Amino acid sequence: MEKAIGIIGAMEIEVAQLKEMMKDMTVTTKAGMDFCRGTINERDVVVVQSGVGKVNAAVCAQILVDMFDVGAIINTGVAGSLRAEINIGDIVISRTAVQHDMDVRALRYKKGFIPGMKKSKFPADDGLLLLAVRTCQQVNPDIKVYTGVVATGDQFIADQAVKDEIVETFKASCTEMEGASIAQVAWLNEVPFVIIRAISDKADGSAQMDYPEFEKMAVENTVRLLDAMLKQL
Ligand code: ADE
Repeated sequence: MEKAIGIIGAMEIEVAQLKEMMKDMTVTTKAGMDFCRGTINERDVVVVQSGVGKVNAAVCAQILVDMFDVGAIINTGVAGSLRAEINIGDIVISRTAVQHDMDVRALRYKKGFIPGMKKSKFPADDGLLLLAVRTCQQVNPDIKVYTGVVATGDQFIADQAVKDEIVETFKASCTEMEGASIAQVAWLNEVPFVIIRAISDKADGSAQMDYPEFEKMAVENTVRLLDAMLKQL
């Protein structure tokens, strides 16, 4: 039997519709997280709300590997745009993911570099990346889909200067709070992953206002994409 696909969203709104779409759901609670196993479009999936931030996301991803033996992990949700051309509602698919708040520069490491690790920018699975881009163009024709670096940190970015530094250092396309930690866990366990994020704000001074207004619309674009992807996986 094919292995299940793990789908992680940090917040309730990011996974609620996916859970509604599931059939034959059974729930296992571990580390305070509800792992919902079932099928979407006849594909075995485990959908889980991890909670916000890198630690929650890493714990969640490792449980997906250890307890559910998932064959791939998809991280879905919203993000702040780091490029002028990437607008609210658009979707960014990860080529790589990096932790922008990993900072051992005092010991002469480059910003984002994790001492002792062979990699600090974790590459997404090519097949999942391609499928996400192609499917997004089909099911979300009114928005644009981009691929690029996802910059993750335990910070909601809502300041132009902080944003500028992340852009300058990592040449990233969007910023959020879980993706690269999930990517690191996936890479350590040799499990393919991809991050799919819809833009809810511009990660600058307008982010606090835009985020609550556009979060729901952004999530709808990711749900439409995942629904269609799961028919092809
Ligand atoms: N998720 C959505 N918008 C974000 C932002 N501006 N910073 C961090 N995470 C986000």
